[in-house]
Amino acid sequence: MHKVIYDTDPGVDDAMALLFLHRHPDIDLIGITTVFGNASIDTTTRNALFLKREWGISAPVARGASQTIDPDRQDIGWPTFIHGDDGLGNIGVPETIDLPEDGRSAHRFIIDTVRAHPGEVTLVAVGRMTNLALALREDPDIIGLVRQVVVMGGAFDVSGNVTPAAEANIHGDPEAADLVFTAPWKVVIVGLDVTMKTMMTRDFLAEMAASGRADIKLLANVSQFYIDFYKDRAGREGMAVHDSCAGVYVVAPELFATRSGGVRVVCGGIADGQTIQKAEDRHFGPSAWDGLPSQLVCTDVQPEGVLNVIRAALVDGKRL
Ligand code: BDR
Ligand code: CA
Repeated sequence: MHKVIYDTDPGVDDAMALLFLHRHPDIDLIGITTVFGNASIDTTTRNALFLKREWGISAPVARGASQTIDPDRQDIGWPTFIHGDDGLGNIGVPETIDLPEDGRSAHRFIIDTVRAHPGEVTLVAVGRMTNLALALREDPDIIGLVRQVVVMGGAFDVSGNVTPAAEANIHGDPEAADLVFTAPWKVVIVGLDVTMKTMMTRDFLAEMAASGRADIKLLANVSQFYIDFYKDRAGREGMAVHDSCAGVYVVAPELFATRSGGVRVVCGGIADGQTIQKAEDRHFGPSAWDGLPSQLVCTDVQPEGVLNVIRAALVDGKRL
Protein backbone atom coordinates (compact mmCIF):
# COMPACT_ATOMS: atom_id res chain seq x y z
CA MET A 1 0.00 0.00 0.00
CA HIS A 2 1.33 3.44 -0.92
CA LYS A 3 0.41 6.35 1.33
CA VAL A 4 0.19 9.33 -1.01
CA ILE A 5 -0.08 13.07 -0.56
CA TYR A 6 -1.19 14.55 -3.86
CA ASP A 7 0.11 18.07 -4.50
CA THR A 8 -1.90 19.47 -7.37
CA ASP A 9 -3.27 22.48 -9.30
CA PRO A 10 -6.56 21.14 -10.70
CA GLY A 11 -6.50 21.39 -13.71
CA VAL A 12 -8.07 18.88 -16.11
CA ASP A 13 -5.29 16.28 -16.21
CA ASP A 14 -4.88 16.80 -12.45
CA ALA A 15 -8.51 15.74 -12.07
CA MET A 16 -7.91 12.44 -13.86
CA ALA A 17 -4.87 11.73 -11.69
CA LEU A 18 -6.91 12.50 -8.59
CA LEU A 19 -9.56 10.00 -9.58
CA PHE A 20 -6.84 7.47 -10.35
CA LEU A 21 -5.21 7.90 -6.92
CA HIS A 22 -8.61 7.74 -5.23
CA ARG A 23 -9.70 4.59 -7.05
CA HIS A 24 -6.49 2.55 -7.19
CA PRO A 25 -6.63 -0.27 -4.61
CA ASP A 26 -2.90 -0.08 -3.79
CA ILE A 27 -3.03 3.64 -3.00
CA ASP A 28 -4.08 5.21 0.26
CA LEU A 29 -4.69 8.87 -0.58
CA ILE A 30 -4.08 10.62 2.75
CA GLY A 31 -4.02 14.24 1.68
CA ILE A 32 -4.57 16.67 -1.16
CA THR A 33 -2.53 19.86 -1.17
CA THR A 34 -3.22 22.60 -3.66
CA VAL A 35 -0.93 25.02 -5.44
CA PHE A 36 -1.45 27.84 -7.93
CA GLY A 37 -0.60 27.07 -11.55
CA ASN A 38 -3.36 26.02 -13.92
CA ALA A 39 -5.46 28.67 -12.16
CA SER A 40 -5.25 30.89 -9.05
CA ILE A 41 -4.95 29.24 -5.64
CA ASP A 42 -8.59 30.13 -4.91
CA THR A 43 -9.69 28.32 -8.05
CA THR A 44 -7.44 25.25 -7.72
CA THR A 45 -8.46 24.83 -4.07
CA ARG A 46 -12.15 25.26 -4.92
CA ASN A 47 -11.70 22.67 -7.68
CA ALA A 48 -10.04 20.20 -5.32
CA LEU A 49 -12.95 20.59 -2.92
CA PHE A 50 -15.44 20.21 -5.76
CA LEU A 51 -13.86 16.95 -6.93
CA LYS A 52 -13.57 15.73 -3.34
CA ARG A 53 -17.29 16.29 -2.90
CA GLU A 54 -18.36 14.85 -6.25
CA TRP A 55 -16.18 11.76 -5.92
CA GLY A 56 -16.65 11.16 -2.19
CA ILE A 57 -12.95 11.44 -1.40
CA SER A 58 -12.18 11.39 2.31
CA ALA A 59 -8.67 12.89 2.17
CA PRO A 60 -8.42 16.45 3.54
CA VAL A 61 -7.64 19.38 1.25
CA ALA A 62 -4.98 21.85 2.42
CA ARG A 63 -4.57 25.15 0.62
CA GLY A 64 -1.07 25.93 -0.62
CA ALA A 65 1.04 28.59 -2.24
CA SER A 66 -0.40 31.47 -4.20
CA GLN A 67 2.92 32.77 -5.51
CA THR A 68 6.42 31.63 -6.38
CA ILE A 69 8.95 30.95 -3.66
CA ASP A 70 10.85 34.02 -4.82
CA PRO A 71 8.21 36.74 -4.34
CA ASP A 72 10.02 38.99 -6.81
CA ARG A 73 9.45 36.62 -9.70
CA GLN A 74 7.15 38.06 -12.34
CA ASP A 75 3.62 36.63 -12.38
CA ILE A 76 2.94 34.69 -15.60
CA GLY A 77 -0.83 34.20 -15.23
CA TRP A 78 -2.99 31.15 -15.90
CA PRO A 79 -3.38 28.95 -19.02
CA THR A 80 -7.15 29.40 -19.31
CA PHE A 81 -6.94 28.41 -23.00
CA ILE A 82 -5.86 24.91 -21.91
CA HIS A 83 -7.85 24.22 -18.71
CA GLY A 84 -10.71 26.73 -19.10
CA ASP A 85 -11.57 29.81 -17.03
CA ASP A 86 -12.70 27.58 -14.16
CA GLY A 87 -9.65 25.30 -14.43
CA LEU A 88 -11.93 22.34 -15.12
CA GLY A 89 -12.84 22.70 -18.77
CA ASN A 90 -15.55 25.37 -18.29
CA ILE A 91 -18.11 22.90 -17.02
CA GLY A 92 -19.52 25.52 -14.65
CA VAL A 93 -18.05 24.56 -11.29
CA PRO A 94 -20.00 26.28 -8.47
CA GLU A 95 -18.32 29.41 -7.11
CA THR A 96 -18.03 27.96 -3.65
CA ILE A 97 -18.12 24.44 -2.26
CA ASP A 98 -19.60 23.86 1.14
CA LEU A 99 -16.79 21.69 2.48
CA PRO A 100 -14.15 22.72 5.02
CA GLU A 101 -10.47 22.98 4.13
CA ASP A 102 -7.84 21.52 6.41
CA GLY A 103 -6.88 24.53 8.49
CA ARG A 104 -3.15 24.17 7.83
CA SER A 105 -1.16 25.50 4.92
CA ALA A 106 -0.19 22.85 2.37
CA HIS A 107 3.48 22.83 3.33
CA ARG A 108 2.62 22.51 7.04
CA PHE A 109 0.21 19.68 6.21
CA ILE A 110 3.00 17.91 4.30
CA ILE A 111 5.44 18.28 7.20
CA ASP A 112 2.96 17.07 9.82
CA THR A 113 1.77 14.12 7.75
CA VAL A 114 5.27 12.98 6.78
CA ARG A 115 6.32 13.19 10.43
CA ALA A 116 3.27 11.17 11.46
CA HIS A 117 4.22 8.36 9.03
CA PRO A 118 8.04 8.31 8.87
CA GLY A 119 9.40 6.52 5.82
CA GLU A 120 5.94 5.80 4.42
CA VAL A 121 4.68 8.82 2.51
CA THR A 122 5.04 9.26 -1.24
CA LEU A 123 4.60 12.83 -2.44
CA VAL A 124 3.05 12.95 -5.90
CA ALA A 125 3.58 16.53 -7.07
CA VAL A 126 1.96 17.56 -10.34
CA GLY A 127 1.91 21.36 -10.16
CA ARG A 128 4.54 23.93 -9.39
CA MET A 129 7.01 22.72 -6.77
CA THR A 130 6.36 25.65 -4.42
CA ASN A 131 4.67 23.74 -1.56
CA LEU A 132 7.37 21.08 -1.48
CA ALA A 133 10.11 23.70 -1.47
CA LEU A 134 8.41 25.58 1.37
CA ALA A 135 8.15 22.34 3.36
CA LEU A 136 11.85 21.64 2.77
CA ARG A 137 12.80 25.13 3.83
CA GLU A 138 10.70 25.00 7.01
CA ASP A 139 11.67 21.48 8.07
CA PRO A 140 14.67 20.02 6.18
CA ASP A 141 14.55 16.90 8.35
CA ILE A 142 11.58 15.61 6.34
CA ILE A 143 14.14 14.77 3.63
CA GLY A 144 15.01 11.60 5.51
CA LEU A 145 11.39 10.78 6.33
CA VAL A 146 9.73 10.80 2.88
CA ARG A 147 9.54 7.50 0.98
CA GLN A 148 9.83 9.10 -2.44
CA VAL A 149 8.81 12.18 -4.40
CA VAL A 150 7.24 11.55 -7.80
CA VAL A 151 7.05 14.73 -9.86
CA MET A 152 5.25 15.49 -13.10
CA GLY A 153 7.39 18.17 -14.64
CA GLY A 154 10.34 19.02 -16.79
CA ALA A 155 11.51 18.24 -20.29
CA PHE A 156 14.91 16.59 -20.66
CA ASP A 157 15.52 15.17 -24.14
CA VAL A 158 12.52 16.93 -25.70
CA SER A 159 11.44 20.55 -25.97
CA GLY A 160 9.32 22.29 -23.38
CA ASN A 161 5.66 23.22 -23.67
CA VAL A 162 5.71 26.80 -22.34
CA THR A 163 8.94 27.79 -24.05
CA PRO A 164 11.21 25.66 -26.25
CA ALA A 165 13.25 25.10 -23.09
CA ALA A 166 10.77 24.70 -20.26
CA GLU A 167 7.77 22.66 -19.14
CA ALA A 168 4.90 24.44 -17.35
CA ASN A 169 5.19 23.11 -13.79
CA ILE A 170 8.91 23.86 -13.63
CA HIS A 171 8.70 27.12 -15.57
CA GLY A 172 6.07 28.29 -13.08
CA ASP A 173 8.54 28.22 -10.18
CA PRO A 174 12.07 27.27 -11.24
CA GLU A 175 13.75 28.14 -7.94
CA ALA A 176 11.34 25.87 -6.06
CA ALA A 177 11.96 22.98 -8.47
CA ASP A 178 15.72 23.39 -8.20
CA LEU A 179 15.43 23.08 -4.39
CA VAL A 180 13.30 19.95 -4.67
CA PHE A 181 15.50 18.21 -7.24
CA THR A 182 18.80 18.93 -5.48
CA ALA A 183 17.66 17.82 -2.02
CA PRO A 184 18.96 14.40 -0.93
CA TRP A 185 15.65 12.57 -1.02
CA LYS A 186 14.51 10.15 -3.68
CA VAL A 187 12.97 12.04 -6.59
CA VAL A 188 11.52 10.49 -9.74
CA ILE A 189 10.76 12.96 -12.51
CA VAL A 190 8.03 12.10 -14.99
CA GLY A 191 8.35 14.79 -17.62
CA LEU A 192 7.25 15.60 -21.14
CA ASP A 193 9.70 12.98 -22.47
CA VAL A 194 7.13 10.38 -21.46
CA THR A 195 3.87 12.24 -20.89
CA MET A 196 3.67 13.55 -24.47
CA LYS A 197 3.84 9.93 -25.63
CA THR A 198 0.92 8.99 -23.39
CA MET A 199 -2.15 10.28 -25.21
CA MET A 200 -5.67 9.27 -24.29
CA THR A 201 -8.18 9.61 -27.11
CA ARG A 202 -11.72 10.95 -26.78
CA ASP A 203 -12.99 7.47 -27.67
CA PHE A 204 -10.93 5.77 -24.95
CA LEU A 205 -12.37 8.17 -22.39
CA ALA A 206 -15.89 7.72 -23.76
CA GLU A 207 -15.56 3.94 -23.50
CA MET A 208 -14.55 4.25 -19.86
CA ALA A 209 -17.50 6.58 -19.25
CA ALA A 210 -19.79 4.02 -20.92
CA SER A 211 -19.17 1.79 -17.91
CA GLY A 212 -21.90 3.95 -16.37
CA ARG A 213 -19.84 5.29 -13.48
CA ALA A 214 -20.84 8.87 -12.62
CA ASP A 215 -17.29 9.77 -11.55
CA ILE A 216 -15.87 8.87 -14.98
CA LYS A 217 -18.74 10.71 -16.71
CA LEU A 218 -17.82 13.87 -14.81
CA LEU A 219 -14.17 13.34 -15.73
CA ALA A 220 -15.08 12.91 -19.40
CA ASN A 221 -17.16 16.08 -19.25
CA VAL A 222 -14.31 18.05 -17.65
CA SER A 223 -11.82 16.76 -20.24
CA GLN A 224 -13.56 17.80 -23.51
CA PHE A 225 -12.21 21.38 -23.52
CA TYR A 226 -8.67 20.06 -22.94
CA ILE A 227 -8.99 17.50 -25.75
CA ASP A 228 -10.23 20.29 -28.04
CA PHE A 229 -7.13 22.30 -27.13
CA TYR A 230 -4.85 19.44 -28.18
CA LYS A 231 -6.72 19.05 -31.46
CA ASP A 232 -6.89 22.75 -32.34
CA ARG A 233 -3.45 23.88 -31.15
CA ALA A 234 -1.30 20.80 -31.57
CA GLY A 235 -3.18 18.71 -34.13
CA ARG A 236 -3.09 15.77 -31.73
CA GLU A 237 -5.87 13.21 -31.28
CA GLY A 238 -6.65 13.03 -27.59
CA MET A 239 -4.97 14.48 -24.54
CA ALA A 240 -1.66 13.94 -22.83
CA VAL A 241 -2.39 12.43 -19.43
CA HIS A 242 0.58 14.21 -17.85
CA ASP A 243 -0.33 14.03 -14.19
CA SER A 244 -1.76 10.51 -14.30
CA CYS A 245 1.63 9.29 -15.57
CA ALA A 246 3.11 10.31 -12.20
CA GLY A 247 0.33 8.44 -10.38
CA VAL A 248 0.87 5.34 -12.52
CA TYR A 249 4.61 5.44 -11.83
CA VAL A 250 3.87 4.88 -8.13
CA VAL A 251 2.15 1.55 -8.75
CA ALA A 252 3.76 0.42 -12.03
CA PRO A 253 7.32 1.79 -12.31
CA GLU A 254 8.20 -1.07 -14.67
CA LEU A 255 6.29 0.75 -17.42
CA PHE A 256 8.94 3.50 -17.45
CA ALA A 257 12.60 3.58 -18.47
CA THR A 258 14.72 5.82 -16.25
CA ARG A 259 18.14 7.46 -16.18
CA SER A 260 20.04 8.36 -12.99
CA GLY A 261 21.93 11.55 -12.32
CA GLY A 262 21.88 14.95 -10.68
CA VAL A 263 19.26 17.41 -11.92
CA ARG A 264 19.40 21.21 -11.97
CA VAL A 265 16.87 23.79 -13.08
CA VAL A 266 17.91 26.88 -15.01
CA CYS A 267 16.72 29.94 -13.06
CA GLY A 268 16.53 33.05 -15.22
CA GLY A 269 17.53 33.98 -18.76
CA ILE A 270 16.13 32.65 -22.01
CA ALA A 271 16.11 29.04 -20.78
CA ASP A 272 14.30 29.91 -17.52
CA GLY A 273 12.81 26.69 -16.11
CA GLN A 274 14.81 24.28 -18.24
CA THR A 275 15.58 20.97 -16.52
CA ILE A 276 19.03 19.47 -17.15
CA GLN A 277 20.31 16.14 -15.89
CA LYS A 278 23.94 15.08 -15.72
CA ALA A 279 23.69 11.36 -16.45
CA GLU A 280 25.71 9.32 -13.95
CA ASP A 281 27.83 7.70 -16.63
CA ARG A 282 28.90 11.00 -18.24
CA HIS A 283 32.04 12.84 -17.12
CA PHE A 284 32.60 16.57 -17.35
CA GLY A 285 34.84 19.18 -15.80
CA PRO A 286 33.72 20.97 -12.64
CA SER A 287 30.08 22.03 -12.93
CA ALA A 288 26.95 23.02 -11.05
CA TRP A 289 25.98 19.31 -11.04
CA ASP A 290 28.93 18.24 -8.84
CA GLY A 291 28.04 16.48 -5.62
CA LEU A 292 24.29 16.40 -6.27
CA PRO A 293 22.09 13.48 -5.24
CA SER A 294 21.30 11.18 -8.12
CA GLN A 295 17.65 11.39 -9.16
CA LEU A 296 15.65 9.31 -11.62
CA VAL A 297 14.42 10.91 -14.83
CA CYS A 298 11.92 9.00 -16.97
CA THR A 299 13.21 8.71 -20.52
CA ASP A 300 10.70 6.32 -22.06
CA VAL A 301 7.33 4.75 -21.37
CA GLN A 302 4.96 2.03 -22.48
CA PRO A 303 1.94 4.26 -23.19
CA GLU A 304 -0.59 1.45 -23.70
CA GLY A 305 0.43 -0.08 -20.40
CA VAL A 306 -0.09 3.24 -18.63
CA LEU A 307 -3.52 3.73 -20.23
CA ASN A 308 -4.52 0.21 -19.24
CA VAL A 309 -3.50 0.80 -15.61
CA ILE A 310 -5.56 4.01 -15.59
CA ARG A 311 -8.59 2.27 -17.10
CA ALA A 312 -8.38 -0.63 -14.67
CA ALA A 313 -8.29 1.71 -11.69
CA LEU A 314 -11.04 4.01 -12.92
CA VAL A 315 -13.44 1.36 -14.16
CA ASP A 316 -12.85 -1.56 -11.80
CA GLY A 317 -10.91 -0.03 -8.93
CA LYS A 318 -8.42 -2.81 -9.50
CA ARG A 319 -4.95 -3.10 -10.91
CA LEU A 320 -4.50 -5.20 -14.06
C1 BDR B 1 1.65 20.13 -16.61
O1 BDR B 1 1.21 21.50 -16.65
C2 BDR B 1 -0.13 21.58 -16.25
O2 BDR B 1 -0.83 22.42 -17.11
C3 BDR B 1 -0.69 20.19 -16.27
O3 BDR B 1 -1.67 20.00 -15.29
C4 BDR B 1 0.53 19.32 -16.01
O4 BDR B 1 0.73 19.16 -14.63
C5 BDR B 1 2.06 19.71 -18.00
O5 BDR B 1 3.10 20.50 -18.47
CA1 CA C 1 -0.98 19.76 -12.99
